Amino acid sequence: MAKDRALVTGANRGIGLAIVERLAREGHPTLLCARDLSAGEAEAVRLRGQGLDVTALALDVARPASIAAAVAAARKIGPVGILVNNAGVLSEGNLLDMPQADIDDALAVHVAGPLALVRALAPDMAARGRGRIVNMSSGWGAFAQGLGGPGPYGFTKAALNALTVALARDLGPKVKVNAMSPGWVRTRMGGAGAPRTTEQGADTAYWLATLPDDGPTGGFFQDRKPIAW
Ligand SMILES: NC(=O)c1ccc[n+]([C@@H]2O[C@H](COP(=O)([O-])OP(=O)(O)OC[C@H]3O[C@@H](n4cnc5c(N)ncnc54)[C@H](OP(=O)(O)O)[C@@H]3O)[C@@H](O)[C@H]2O)c1
Repeated sequence: MAKDRALVTGANRGIGLAIVERLAREGHPTLLCARDLSAGEAEAVRLRGQGLDVTALALDVARPASIAAAVAAARKIGPVGILVNNAGVLSEGNLLDMPQADIDDALAVHVAGPLALVRALAPDMAARGRGRIVNMSSGWGAFAQGLGGPGPYGFTKAALNALTVALARDLGPKVKVNAMSPGWVRTRMGGAGAPRTTEQGADTAYWLATLPDDGPTGGFFQDRKPIAW
């Protein structure tokens, strides 16, 4: 059976790029989405050089027009069976005196953008009777871990978790939607002192993106195991 086509956001670097590499190495045609298309294209060219089926698309998840254009471009290539909402932003500051633009951006990137992508792509998945959606959250988005992180990071990731539960209810069992924490990963966001590689951070995303039909939906996972919300 042909492997599902995947679309990964924020995939020009960090964990998103590692998710693209993993999916493509496992035989999934993969759309590497980046808000800076030239950065995405450079990685796509490198991966195609290794024989992988990777296509770069421009996608700024904070801009509805960019989402609409990317979805239209993806549809021209073929049906998307896997959506990984990976793009993320971390801005320092106190919620009361930090720039409003940083709060708006976190809400757009972590909540409104992922929801818009699901609304655009999930109906086709449902019509085909199969879909996998992975929302890249964080331990800092867990009430159980005290909603950590600076500024809007924790509460917007908690909102992404809540969205995961609500979408799983509305999508039913065939289009599975799950949230995950990658752990603390060495990326521009995680910093050089983080203990995990991007490949380790990407593993649970790969697992959730390729769940069997009897796999879970509406859950929150780290290292392929459920964690507390
Ligand atoms: N690293 C960790 O320890 C850690 C822990 C928990 C959760 N996470 C989550 O894992 C995900 C990936 O993070 P990372 O560590 O790989 O961080 P990263 O290296 O900073 O990468 C973030 C990615 O998100 C993209 N992005 C930001 N705003 C965007 C927008 N408006 N539209 C499209 N893409 C956008 C960035 O694109 P540009 O290159 O254009 O900026 C970049 O590709 C994030 O959701 C993050 O919250 C990371």
